[in-house]
Amino acid sequence: MDRQLSPTRPAAEPETRNNADWWRQAAVYQIYPRSFADANHDGLGDLPGVTSRIGYLKELGIDAIWLSPFYPSALADGGYDVDDYRNVDARLGTLADFDTMVAAAHEAGLKVIVDVVPNHSSNRHRWFSEALASAPGSPERARYHFHEGLGEQGELPPSDWPSHFGGPAWTRVTESTGANAGDPGQWYLHLFASEQPDLNWENPEVREDFHTTLRFWADRGVDGFRVDVAHALAKDMSLPLRSKPSLQILLDDGTDPLFDRDEVHEIFAGWRQVLNEYDPPRAAVAEAWVPFTHRRLKYAQPTGLGQAFNFDLLQAPFDAGEFRGIVASCLAEAAASGASSTWVFSNHDVIRHPSRYALPDGTDAQALDAWLLNGGTHPQPDPARGLRRARAATLFMLGLPGSAYLYQGEELGLFEVADLPLDALEDPTWFRTGNRIKGRDGCRVPLPWDAGQENHGFGGTPWLPQPAWFAAHAVTEQDGVPGSTLELYRDALAWRRKLQAAESLQWLSASGDPLLHYRRPNGWEVLTNFGTEPAPLPVRAEASRIVLASGPVARPPQQIPGETTLWLAP
Ligand code: GLC
Repeated sequence: MDRQLSPTRPAAEPETRNNADWWRQAAVYQIYPRSFADANHDGLGDLPGVTSRIGYLKELGIDAIWLSPFYPSALADGGYDVDDYRNVDARLGTLADFDTMVAAAHEAGLKVIVDVVPNHSSNRHRWFSEALASAPGSPERARYHFHEGLGEQGELPPSDWPSHFGGPAWTRVTESTGANAGDPGQWYLHLFASEQPDLNWENPEVREDFHTTLRFWADRGVDGFRVDVAHALAKDMSLPLRSKPSLQILLDDGTDPLFDRDEVHEIFAGWRQVLNEYDPPRAAVAEAWVPFTHRRLKYAQPTGLGQAFNFDLLQAPFDAGEFRGIVASCLAEAAASGASSTWVFSNHDVIRHPSRYALPDGTDAQALDAWLLNGGTHPQPDPARGLRRARAATLFMLGLPGSAYLYQGEELGLFEVADLPLDALEDPTWFRTGNRIKGRDGCRVPLPWDAGQENHGFGGTPWLPQPAWFAAHAVTEQDGVPGSTLELYRDALAWRRKLQAAESLQWLSASGDPLLHYRRPNGWEVLTNFGTEPAPLPVRAEASRIVLASGPVARPPQQIPGETTLWLAP
């Protein structure tokens, strides 16, 4: 239906390669490489798979791709456990494959962002092997956080810190040198899985090595970096270690022992100097789970990484008041930092947004985990509502000033695969919580490309099984189909490029109204009815200007249906 409303989709304008501000209002598409496309049919997506789909990505209308880690890794945490920061995992390709992919992306006018994981290496990184083979107090151990345990025999962890994935954040090693060889010895810190030892950012060698890594990829043509767990690098490791029994509670003044300490910004000031060696300067976006606006904006300053994620919309219920408040505060935050705002509904760490919206209102994070654990079913409680809201929310977001981060498969309207067989699960959360929290595999299931092919056209037998209902979401089922979610994304991204305006908006709806209505400076208007009942169209919204709708709309529209977004051209 929406397709009938759309005048012809606008053609893409030619790309300007040297525009230093390209990231400010980019639509960035996140690729989880193992699950995107599998060119060599071994069941793991790979870099040649990405290259083979550059045409698809160009047609989708995005500006950049961001690749989650593709580095050598034992995949204890889906690749966020990096063995070697300057190489490609042999199962995913080679450095030559990487170069081919970047060249193809650039040829198609797409920028390339890669993930950097500086908080921790993997336990298979050369440095960690050297640390284990060396004595306590050695320079090899000083690249990580090794500490003596508490208790008479050092049998207790050095502090009460938990790991993000469950269990303690400390693991004890068996010493391999000296008089104590073969005995239990020091403990090392890992805020995530035990295969992810935290690096010691007080150590100049660690700092220098990451500068080398940034240059390594920037020299290969990478346009930007997504910085994993950026808020955790600086830590207060002075003795005695301070108590912090919950990682969820953060001090808001830079004095928390583990997160968002003021010193972290010295590290990123150094990174910015490296990024500015290039023309155009390389972009960077911080993943900083910092709930305080005044603290978060520091990561986004031009003297720092330059941009930071906010996950506020992702965590919000589908509610006009909540959305409006978040947009207003994130735009103010961005303006104060000098960056543009970021927006995101889905990524590789959270339940896909159509599934979140399909659950009853008021479902909180714990209830979401419980839903997953209880074999969360498909169909979900109300999948039609979930997808309707997701489409409306996405169009609301794609009209906002700033960068939009999209996660692979959301353009296909994919739901969470909530009922993966338990023996297929790989997320360390599942193991480290003693099977109490299922984790993130359900949003990482390999994409369905072709309903008529084996494994839905992904490649070999996927590393996580695809459910039968994926067929209906395959690209082949949506390509050219009016009203499909894929065509909606294509239309929206094409119109977004054409209508893009200066980085601000004006609210036209009154606060408290379930219909949110905003206008960009060039006259582009976005209206979202968050209510379930149709709402009258505001007088200014003449039908002739409607270029896009997230759901069926009567022609000529008298009203805006519930849970629907409209775009009006100037
Ligand atoms: C980030 C990543 C997540 C990973 C964690 C540890 O939050 O997005 O996938 O598990 O960092 O690296």
